[in-house]
Amino acid sequence: MGDEKEKYWSRFQDSYDKNQEYVVGKKLLGIISEKLGDLTGLGEVVEFGCGTGYFSEILFHNASQMIATDLSDELLGKAKMRLKDNPNVTFQKEDCVQTSFTPDRFDTVFMANIIHVIEHPIKALQESYRILKAGGILIIVTFTNHGMKKFDIIKMGARFLRAWGKPPQHTSSFSPESLASLMESAGFFVNESGLLGNKTKAVFMIGQKKQ
Ligand SMILES: C[S@@+](CC[C@H](N)C(=O)[O-])C[C@H]1O[C@@H](n2cnc3c(N)ncnc32)[C@H](O)[C@@H]1O
Repeated sequence: MGDEKEKYWSRFQDSYDKNQEYVVGKKLLGIISEKLGDLTGLGEVVEFGCGTGYFSEILFHNASQMIATDLSDELLGKAKMRLKDNPNVTFQKEDCVQTSFTPDRFDTVFMANIIHVIEHPIKALQESYRILKAGGILIIVTFTNHGMKKFDIIKMGARFLRAWGKPPQHTSSFSPESLASLMESAGFFVNESGLLGNKTKAVFMIGQKKQ
């Protein structure tokens, strides 16, 4: 198997969805799903870090075509099984900081819960910018401690350790402001930015490549 960043999440191919529901709660996942379900006319979409396809399953309905990508063969296999009856979704192994896609290709790049677990988030944003068409959009949703009560952070930390064990080597906790600033430094205009959730939270953001 490949290096550390490829292996960390692959270990959980059979328990991923349950672990995620346990750690952040079904309520937050439902809020994210609802928000994603409302996004229409996404055109040709590429997703980075699709994992088991938990959110791909929601977003692909609003895409003309979707390529779901991940670094983990095991998780891509799970996503493939989940979405196997949908001919407008294909699967591909890609590293989100350096993909094989040609420049200016996609209408939409989508990333759920990946930007906070990679070593160089800016590189994933720059790569998104490179492969988006002019006017194309980048949709990011990412779990965060920001805006959570201290006690809820401690409880979520304990659930994380129970479910996943030691956290991945590189983790960040973005605020809407810190992620917006990173998006802008990659060249994006930020069209929408905010926090979702109650006890547990996620930053939600839409950036646009210049026309
Ligand atoms: C926390 S999981 C999120 C999975 C899914 N998006 C979700 O929200 O359910 C992070 C995912 O990113 C993938 N990943 C980590 N580093 C990556 C990289 N450099 N390029 C592509 N995928 C990566 C992992 O294999 C894993 O599937």
